Amino acid sequence: MIMSSRSFAEYRAMFALGDRDLDGVVLDCAGGASGFVAEARRMGARALATDPLYAHGAATLAERLSGDLEQGDAMIDANAGRFVWEWYGSAARRRELRVGARRAFIADLRRRPGSYVAASLPHLPLAGRSVDLVLCSHLLFTWADRLDREWHRAAIMEMSRVSRGEVRIFPLVRMGDGEPVPFLGALVAELRDAGLGCEVREVPYEFQRGARHMLTVTCS
Ligand SMILES: C[S@@+](CC[C@H](N)C(=O)[O-])C[C@H]1O[C@@H](n2cnc3c(N)ncnc32)[C@H](O)[C@@H]1O
Repeated sequence: MIMSSRSFAEYRAMFALGDRDLDGVVLDCAGGASGFVAEARRMGARALATDPLYAHGAATLAERLSGDLEQGDAMIDANAGRFVWEWYGSAARRRELRVGARRAFIADLRRRPGSYVAASLPHLPLAGRSVDLVLCSHLLFTWADRLDREWHRAAIMEMSRVSRGEVRIFPLVRMGDGEPVPFLGALVAELRDAGLGCEVREVPYEFQRGARHMLTVTCS
């Protein structure tokens, strides 16, 4: 799985973030090399990230990241028809955002390693209801060819356990073929049965063609 590095700007659009959304503690779950935490903290917000790869430390991660960026670009080139460029404007702008985010991530990881917690869903080493908002980008649904419905249910229940507000998940399509995840409806029904509020909301971002929706799970 690629450790990608989306920027704060991409997160803001993917998760339709408003200013009030950053008032509380925000968890970037499966943060990878995203620049979200670095930029949010620069703006004065309280943010942290979890990812299993954080166990390797900044030096090792810095070394692997350019390879991951090239791998992501090659995958997009090989499947050009499945992507739309209106949001980015150009491939150069997308790359600029990714490189900037990666740089901000590595600098922040070195400066504030305590904000980056090594953890693998469906288990998070965080207290119940200890954050206000969980953002989950490009892990759930994206990799549904290798992570099954039961894993998704357990992962969402765990993110809901640590949040006292909402969990937002984007996108709702698979990376492999860009198709919607077939078990989404059944999973949402199961989560509602477990007492969670679920809503599919359109967001002002699209890169994988047709991937314009996030799932919000309300925990309170
Ligand atoms: C495609 S990257 C997305 C990174 C970042 N959220 C972004 O949008 O740029 C997926 C991340 O999920 C992490 N990951 C893989 N398995 C995981 C698991 N079981 N629990 C949490 N994170 C996992 C990977 O290490 C990788 O950094």
